[in-house]
Amino acid sequence: MKTKINLQNTIISVTGLGYVGLPIALAFGHKFPVVGFDINPDRIKLMQDGIDPSGEVTSEEFNGVNIEFSANPAFLRKANFHIVAVPTPIDAHTMPDLGPLLSATITIAKSLKPGDYVVFESTTYPACTEEECVPLLEEISGLSMGKDFKVGFSPERINPGDKEHTLSNVIKVVSGNDEEALEYISAVYGCIVEAGIYKASSIKVAEAAKIIENTQRDLNIALMNEISMICDRLNINTFEVLEAAGTKWNFLKFTPGLVGGHCIGVDPYYLTYKSKALGHDPKIILAGRYTNDQMPGYIAKKTVQKVVKQGKSPSESRVLVLGATFKEGVSDVRNSKVAELVQELKAYSLHVDVVDPLADKEALHEEYQIQVLEKPQGKYDAIVLAVAHKPFLEIDNKTLQSWANFPALLVDIKGLFRKRAEGFEYWSL
Ligand SMILES: NC(=O)c1ccc[n+]([C@@H]2O[C@H](COP(=O)([O-])OP(=O)(O)OC[C@H]3O[C@@H](n4cnc5c(N)ncnc54)[C@H](O)[C@@H]3O)[C@@H](O)[C@H]2O)c1
Repeated sequence: MKTKINLQNTIISVTGLGYVGLPIALAFGHKFPVVGFDINPDRIKLMQDGIDPSGEVTSEEFNGVNIEFSANPAFLRKANFHIVAVPTPIDAHTMPDLGPLLSATITIAKSLKPGDYVVFESTTYPACTEEECVPLLEEISGLSMGKDFKVGFSPERINPGDKEHTLSNVIKVVSGNDEEALEYISAVYGCIVEAGIYKASSIKVAEAAKIIENTQRDLNIALMNEISMICDRLNINTFEVLEAAGTKWNFLKFTPGLVGGHCIGVDPYYLTYKSKALGHDPKIILAGRYTNDQMPGYIAKKTVQKVVKQGKSPSESRVLVLGATFKEGVSDVRNSKVAELVQELKAYSLHVDVVDPLADKEALHEEYQIQVLEKPQGKYDAIVLAVAHKPFLEIDNKTLQSWANFPALLVDIKGLFRKRAEGFEYWSL
């Protein structure tokens, strides 16, 4: 198969229109005809009406784009450059769940034509594209990779809630099954990414690059969480220690906290899965995962200990938790560690109220049976500032005090109220 770089004839399909897929489809929709395919017809209906079901993209961003949204896989046949952006979660045993990825691959294989390209954007372990997806594409389409169609992998760096680092202004890593594929895939992505393209030397390198970005972040946060447990025993504040250490030029600025969501807390398990399959036991990465996963339980234990120390009985104490999403500035509650913290606090028989102006309330109720209140109701024995949403950072001390049943505890997970917690018994990570 010889590909002449002919961008004029490129028609793009994007399969999986979530946090990652929809912004990509919209960006390409300004430059190419695009087919946006998703298995969820309700989501497709909203997108046809210019609404992002994930709440990340504004309706204005749908204006002037050349996109046909459809839940009908037959529409994929119109395209010759297929992008896959479906979820890659883990199962209850922290094993990669390749179900959505393989099912999307099968759907595309059924529409694959000679001369087509398939580029995977879903995060996965190194070698997954060539070992799992390509054989399926070949078997179902009856075509041969390299001869009849080409593949690539281009990891996604979108950061929901972050308006500073966008698809267009962050360098995009791309890879292809051969030199020609690499050039063509680079040219296509080059049309929408202003920051530039990084051409990885192979598909496996691009897959590994993405997975280690998130693994590195996970491990660094785990180290900070462990340091915070040590600082607690030393009776010193972790954030004061980090501030002092941060004056050195090569000290990395990570902070302790809850690691939830569908990337940082999940992706390392894809790497450890592959590592074990190759005969290496990834002890350090798994130790980091273990540390981060135990933080909700640790914070709940510290909270209840301090409530009891104030002479209060847990079953008669009320806790206000501010924030329930997996991180600040988003509505997403998937794998929210705050939800776990709430469950842990309830297990100690504390009464817990949750307030979050941004959270997807339906999902919180459906997934965790947590009912979010519009605003705090009455007085609380402990207030937990769990997520650094902007409106919470603007709360003044007087308001905070008006919610407290003194003596009261302020649990400041991110250490943001350290210098303005007057009147409270203060604890942070
Ligand atoms: N969200 C992020 O911040 C982020 C950042 C970088 C990379 N990633 C990676 O990108 C991928 C997608 O993540 P996301 O957050 O956009 O997921 P998401 O859950 O927001 O969206 C996935 C979409 O895919 C659809 N879908 C599921 N199975 C499908 C199938 N077989 N065929 C067609 N559509 C299907 C769903 O209906 C949904 O609309 C994952 O691999 C993730 O790890 C995500």
